[in-house]
Amino acid sequence: MEVIREPLAYQAACRRARADGHSVGLVPTMGALHAGHLALVRTACERTSYVTVSIFVNPTQFGPSEDLDRYPRTLEADCERCSQAGAEVVFAPEAQAMYPPGDETRVRVQKTAEALCGSYRPAHFEGVATVVAKLLALAGRCTAVFGRKDYQQLRVIHRLVRDLFLPVDIVGVPTVREPDGLALSSRNIYLSGAERQRALAIPQALSQAVAAFGSGEREPTAIAAAVEQALERAADRVDYVELADADTVVPLRRDDPLPTRALLAVAAHVGATRLIDNVVLGEDPAPISD
Ligand code: PAJ
Repeated sequence: MEVIREPLAYQAACRRARADGHSVGLVPTMGALHAGHLALVRTACERTSYVTVSIFVNPTQFGPSEDLDRYPRTLEADCERCSQAGAEVVFAPEAQAMYPPGDETRVRVQKTAEALCGSYRPAHFEGVATVVAKLLALAGRCTAVFGRKDYQQLRVIHRLVRDLFLPVDIVGVPTVREPDGLALSSRNIYLSGAERQRALAIPQALSQAVAAFGSGEREPTAIAAAVEQALERAADRVDYVELADADTVVPLRRDDPLPTRALLAVAAHVGATRLIDNVVLGEDPAPISD
């Protein structure tokens, strides 16, 4: 497996692979790779013949009070995992290479990025859309794989690709969870044992919502209130519990009955760690299967 540091060298490698008859796969990550990321790499391997993984802790998507400096950086172990999972290339640029002096272009997706996390992390999706646009411009025609764990991010990127006519197929992979239901996240390492125990309230509450929806509950307030209560008991702060359109992520009106498919997304702080999770009611299985 090759490790490429320079953006234009990565672009040239993808071009060469296509000229040799390969299909290019791209899995964008910020490293600290876990089984969730590796499921994305495996999906890319099933669908394309030249799989590339980008590892880049993107400064523009972190707010001033967020964890950019302490975000885990484990490049060597990450490369080993990518190689074992079947990747051909790890693209790991320096921040200076992705944002050289004079860089001033930013990509802003509007409505899809404003809902849910958008109101709590104002510049976040602009940073994500900008770096993903740069990565896709380098990769060229490709299949890019993202996790449904960051459901709003996946919808923002869908919008970006459609609006900019990019020659990219987007694939969304189901959330990979621990056996007890906690969604895998690079930020879980910040949780103490007791905090991790409290964090389990998230998959538990989502599972109860899936069960209620499965038994015919279509009252948004009933579903949201049960989740809110459970999270308020366990978390230190709940940013939101939102029922939203599963395509546009625009919040649904609480006085209309739920459609056959609806996103239930939550964000809550446990200790100093902000956790997000979601299920699409009517589509996803419960995070905790019994
Ligand atoms: P990162 O948090 O490293 O996640 C990289 C990819 O892994 C994302 O598509 C994310 O949704 C997916 N992922 C994370 N945890 C997962 C899980 N438990 N199950 C399935 N997929 C999971 O998301 C980012 O990085 C960045 O915002 C990025 C898109 C790379 C742009 O900088």
